[in-house]
Order: sequence, then structure tokens, then C-alpha cells
Amino acid sequence: MDDLAQAKQGARAAWSAGDFTRFAEMIGSSRGRLLGLLGIGPGDEVLDVGSGYGNLAIEAAATGASVTGVDIAPGMVAMARRAAQVAGSPALFEEGDAEDLAAETGSVDVVMSSFACMFAPRHAVTAGELARVLRPGGRMGVLAWTPDSDIAQFIRVTVPHLPPPPSSAQPPLLWGDEDHVRGIFAGTGLELSFARDTVTFPTMPAQEIIEVHLREFGPLVAARAMLEPQGRWQALVDDVSAFFRSKSGADGSVTFTSDYVIVLGRAPG
Ligand SMILES: C[S@@+](CC[C@H](N)C(=O)[O-])C[C@H]1O[C@@H](n2cnc3c(N)ncnc32)[C@H](O)[C@@H]1O
Repeated sequence: MDDLAQAKQGARAAWSAGDFTRFAEMIGSSRGRLLGLLGIGPGDEVLDVGSGYGNLAIEAAATGASVTGVDIAPGMVAMARRAAQVAGSPALFEEGDAEDLAAETGSVDVVMSSFACMFAPRHAVTAGELARVLRPGGRMGVLAWTPDSDIAQFIRVTVPHLPPPPSSAQPPLLWGDEDHVRGIFAGTGLELSFARDTVTFPTMPAQEIIEVHLREFGPLVAARAMLEPQGRWQALVDDVSAFFRSKSGADGSVTFTSDYVIVLGRAPG
């Protein structure tokens, strides 16, 4: 297996681990912002790439749109299907890779991704796929953390402890850089525009936010299984703990905010 295939297998396992419920709740305001900008409604055929626990797809389907979510992680797909069932939502969920979408060329009115397609390793390949599936005049909306955001800093703290990315991979945080994004969409024909916003996470004691991340954030839960037998888990715990403590105020609580970019695109026609 080459290093790209190995990384994808790692992504399936990493994002299937843990429990994404609380993280999805915490970033809820960004979903409202994205759906407002995309103006999704009845009759729209919508594809959500990297649909996680299904929150965005289920909210989009509530407008009367016909929505499919795809995610590389089988654990995420299973949880999204369960959430749709509980909510009585018609949203559908399938396993799928942002770099190789099953949707037919020119088949959807809206393609969207919430802090997800940024994690696919080859950015221009992903951008090409997002553009390919859009009908003429179709709309795209992609959320990505900006490179100087609090979440970006958290990601940078964890990266040295995780398996190395494949040689073809580009850093996910480049999706938050407008020049980079213009570069990866060059040649797709999409007309791009950008908006920015900030997620404010609920205030929590530093110890609680540390424990939530170590216990529930899939990539860290999966890393633990690998690092603990090698005696390397405590180093990650120390770095994650030091990071959140550096963000805490005098009362020991952390109010975390994180800036993100909304990449909007329109297909010609
Ligand atoms: C931070 S979570 C966001 C989940 C969801 N979109 C949300 O906002 O709640 C990132 C998601 O991207 C998915 N993902 C990562 N790489 C992917 C890829 N190559 N193709 C499709 N999904 C991918 C993960 O499995 C995970 O569900």
C-alpha cells in the first residue's frame, strides 16, 4: 500500500474514533452562516462533503432540499444515519472521499463542506472534484479554519505526535489562505469569493476542555492507541494541556474563539 492509501486508511480510523457530538455542537453557528450564504431551498440537489455526524446536511434537508452527505469515515457515516433517523430527516449518508466523489459530473446545485474537505491530502484534486460535480450556475461553500486561528494552533500542537502525512499531502490549514485557495481552483472555472467569521466556543475550565479533547476528539483517541504502547502518549497529553492552559484566564477557564474562512464559488452558466 502506498503512503497515500495508508493515510486514507488512517483517516477512516481516526475520524471514526471518539465522539464528535460536542465538537459539532460547538461549531453550530458556522453552519447557520454557511446555509444563509448558500440560500439552499426546496428543489436544490445538495452534496455535503465530509458530513461528519450529519448536522449540516440535516439542517440543509430541513429547508426542503434533497441532501446527500459523504464522509471518508465509516463511523461518521453510521452516526449521521442514526441522527437522520432520530430527526426524521430525509438526508442520506454514504462513505466517500472528497478526492474521488461518486456524484456524477454536473449533477448538484450546491456542494458544501464544513471544516472537512480541508483534511483531504491533495487540495487541487479536491477542488477539481467540488467543481466537477456542480451544475452550470451551481454554488459551492467551504468552511476552513484560518492559519492563525486558535483551532489552527491546536492542530499544529498535535501534528508532531501524529503519523506523518503522505508525501503528496498539503497542510489542511492552507485551505484558510485565500491565495492558496485561488491557486487550487485555478482552471476549474469557478468564480470565487470569500467571507470570514468567528466561532466562539463555550467557556470551560481548562481541565475540562483538555479532557474533552483527549477523550472525544477522534484523531487523538486513535493516536492514543498507537502512542501509548510506544510510551509517547504522555508527551501529547503534556503539549495539549500546556496549549489549553496557555489560553486560560486568571480564573482557570478558557474561552476559545476561532476564525474561519468561507470559500464561496459559482460555476459558470
Ligand atoms: C472536523 S470534522 C467535520 C465534520 C462535519 N463536517 C462538521 O462540521 O461537523 C472533519 C470531517 O472530515 C471527514 N474527512 C476527512 N478527510 C476526508 C476525505 N478525504 N473525504 C471525505 N471526508 C473526509 C472526517 O471523516 C470528518 O468527518
